[in-house]
Amino acid sequence: MKFFIDTANLAQIKEAHDMGILDGVTTNPSLMAKEGITGQENVINHYKAICEITDGDVSAEVIAVTFNEIVAEGEALAKLHPKIVVKVPMIKEGVKAIKYFTSKGIRTNCTLIFSAGQALLAAKAGATYVSPFIGRLDDISTDGVALIKDIKTIYTNYGYKTQILAASVRHPMHILQCALVGADVITAPLSAIAALLKHPLTDSGLAQFLADHDKAEAAAKVLA
Ligand code: E4P
Repeated sequence: MKFFIDTANLAQIKEAHDMGILDGVTTNPSLMAKEGITGQENVINHYKAICEITDGDVSAEVIAVTFNEIVAEGEALAKLHPKIVVKVPMIKEGVKAIKYFTSKGIRTNCTLIFSAGQALLAAKAGATYVSPFIGRLDDISTDGVALIKDIKTIYTNYGYKTQILAASVRHPMHILQCALVGADVITAPLSAIAALLKHPLTDSGLAQFLADHDKAEAAAKVLA
């Protein structure tokens, strides 16, 4: 399973990259705004900076909502760097644009997916990735991971190549549940990824190993 980090924060992207487990980055307009990135030139430079840090794909989302504008914006984003994947919303004009981008060899991430039907449409249009938002579904008492499972079944039934990129991942259990049902990719905040590291028995076990080692070394020095 690939791990993407869901942020536009360069320090966090670098930290995840330095851990050696980062496969890519996803951003959205809210995440860019959170980092105070505004204005076309700053936005472009920020995407380029993200591409310089990571080895993998970088999803850059269009703001446009009409076919012609999505195509123009997406083509400009795709030209910025070979790692850029154009993120397009699951709307009628977006599906049409994904079909167009596919025919031109431009990779896409169909975002704001909340149903298996939407994921089926995105795959038919040839999306490279589809982003079901599992946390936002959980927020409204709907099982987000069950959606990933349904999409996996549908894509397997028909051999769709579109990769399931589980988004709106909020905590380490989401990551594990997505792995169990076969998501191709998860995108999560650094906190959720880093939380996978933690187990109290690891911490206490390591403390014991180090203490035993120190004790043995001290005893050996006394005898020497
Ligand atoms: C990813 O591509 C999405 O934009 C993101 O995961 C949304 O997450 P949120 O529901 O925590 O805002």
